[in-house]
Amino acid sequence: MTYFAYHSGIRHCENVPLSEIAEAVGTPFYVYSKQALLDAYRELDAALGDMDHLICYAIKANPNLAVNRVLAEAGCGAEVVSGGELFRALKAGYPPERIVFDGNAKTVEELRYALEQCIYAINVDSENELRVLADLAQGMQRPARVALRVNPDVNPNTHPKISTGLKKSKFGVDPETALRCYELARDHEAVQIAGIHAHIGSQILEVEPFAEAMEKLVDIALELRKRGVEIQYIDIGGGLGIQYDDDRPPSYEAYAAALREQWERFPACIVLEPGRTLAGNMGNLVAKTLYVKKTPEKRFVVIDAAMNDLWRPTMYDSYHRILPVNETGETFVADVVGGVCESGDFMARDREMGVVYEGDLIAIESAGAYAASMSSEYNSRPLIPEVLVDGSSFRVVRRRPTYDEMVSLET
Ligand code: LLP
Repeated sequence: MTYFAYHSGIRHCENVPLSEIAEAVGTPFYVYSKQALLDAYRELDAALGDMDHLICYAIKANPNLAVNRVLAEAGCGAEVVSGGELFRALKAGYPPERIVFDGNAKTVEELRYALEQCIYAINVDSENELRVLADLAQGMQRPARVALRVNPDVNPNTHPKISTGLKKSKFGVDPETALRCYELARDHEAVQIAGIHAHIGSQILEVEPFAEAMEKLVDIALELRKRGVEIQYIDIGGGLGIQYDDDRPPSYEAYAAALREQWERFPACIVLEPGRTLAGNMGNLVAKTLYVKKTPEKRFVVIDAAMNDLWRPTMYDSYHRILPVNETGETFVADVVGGVCESGDFMARDREMGVVYEGDLIAIESAGAYAASMSSEYNSRPLIPEVLVDGSSFRVVRRRPTYDEMVSLET
């Protein structure tokens, strides 16, 4: 099923014309297809087949409560990296026993919160964190279920800013240190060793790096078994890419098959932490064309959304398809830019796109993940609404704040 498509010349999300939402909520806004999210989750779940598994959606991709309720109700778990995300996960209805806590900078308060909530596990990033957590758990008389995040030194062939499993990365510990940490954990009565973890990067378009990382985790799990430590879960992180331009991400079946090959050597529970692959293509950012400006050098389509609503083009030179909401056969070449006072404020450069005029709506695709979640109020531009479409109806799941609300925490 295509969740975003033209019907009678107007771009729709499921059965709702984007122009209808624009009229109701104003522009700009993010719009999400509930069905796209659910189908992605169910397809991934099905592809994992009979492998014992737990899918923990990476809340950072899209933390909206309504979006997360959809996944929680479907049986999905959550991956969180902060106290705030843990709060959201619980509020959205994920059962604590389906929540994993990652991150390399957890505070004592955050660790305490996680212990109090009895979540599935805490994926520890360093020996130092392990010691802090063990002491805390001892003091609270609440055993900590832990995994070590291992840095497997695998190249995910993705953008350097989102590669996280190379030797020089700040995340995790090397395999040797991991073995030492597990022995330390084994000897601590307040710590229960539960799993092993890696996350090698994001927007990964091949299965080989996952297989390689999985192989290294399984090697460590087997070595630990020899040393009398039994691992219950292998958390292979997130990272599966999506189609933005002409990218060809592997199918869920191919991804699952690559994991299975290693899993067969050590059939523990597989934990996955997908973010983008579930949420990325369920969303569009819809904006209005304010001006079409021509300079001797270029044509600029100036829109009412800006880099503060979608940082990805500026931060990662990423490509997002841009389509006029009213279908047109004609195209022109333009830079699509926002109103922030920086030259880096662009959604696309030298893009051949459907012709738009002042007042026309445009849809920026693949804005379900790392769009709203990374947005800011830079230039004192209030955050923009989020809308969830379900079949023929839609609902504002985060409304547009007023200027007063924007400054309400300031004195
Ligand atoms: N698990 C961990 C520990 C992570 O750090 C991440 C993402 C995920 C899971 C989910 O990864 P995914 O399946 O979404 O690739 N802002 C960047 C992406 C940063 C990803 C950070 N970590 C972007 O817009 O491309």
